[in-house]
Amino acid sequence: MSQQSLIPNIKACVFDAYGTLFDVHSAVAKHIEFLGDAANQVSNIWRTKQLEYTWLRSLMKKHVDFWQITRDGLDYALDASNITDEKLRDDLLKAYLHLKCYPEVPDTLAKLKDRGLQIAILSNGSPAMLEAVVKSSGLEKLVQTILSVEEVAVFKPDPAVYQLAVDHLGVAAKEIVFLSSNSWDAVGATAFGLKVAWINRFDQRPERMPFQPVAEIKTLAELPDLLES
Ligand code: 2OP
Repeated sequence: MSQQSLIPNIKACVFDAYGTLFDVHSAVAKHIEFLGDAANQVSNIWRTKQLEYTWLRSLMKKHVDFWQITRDGLDYALDASNITDEKLRDDLLKAYLHLKCYPEVPDTLAKLKDRGLQIAILSNGSPAMLEAVVKSSGLEKLVQTILSVEEVAVFKPDPAVYQLAVDHLGVAAKEIVFLSSNSWDAVGATAFGLKVAWINRFDQRPERMPFQPVAEIKTLAELPDLLES
């Protein structure tokens, strides 16, 4: 773990879902035999467009849920890769409901829950998407609260999204540590006032924004040692 001070007085750990708990590229990985060399391109364009569409729709105030956004992003990615296989498209979409969780996730959540910390998800995902992926990855007993942006009909990093964590968990913003591998989400949550640890899974450079997370770790396995018990 890179040297950084402990995070004190935490009562709740709130996790971003896609990219942080769940590997968004595991959907394409399941169907790699049909995608071949185009697999990486399809997966990367799919994720990029999915996020772009959330930001565009929030700025335009034209909200639709993340399932529609995920479908639209996939359709763009397949079109950009000249793939027109409807069954493959449906299979990839379904695979998004059953993404793999990163290997360190179950143990880490169990350790944090054993310490009496509240464990929640706060995500762009729709309630149905999040319930499906939490269930299929066997995390339903570890995650007691699932918060979807659908309650406020706007996507991250709108402050109304992070306010959901404060309102539903009944703790102050400074008693919440928010975990995200998405640097823009980590910046948005910091700007709102949550304590944030950026899970820099892909060795990315820090964003040039003034709202810097209080910690940067490589995987969630480092999180328990970061919290002052
Ligand atoms: C999530 O909200 C940012 O897509 C990511 O789960």
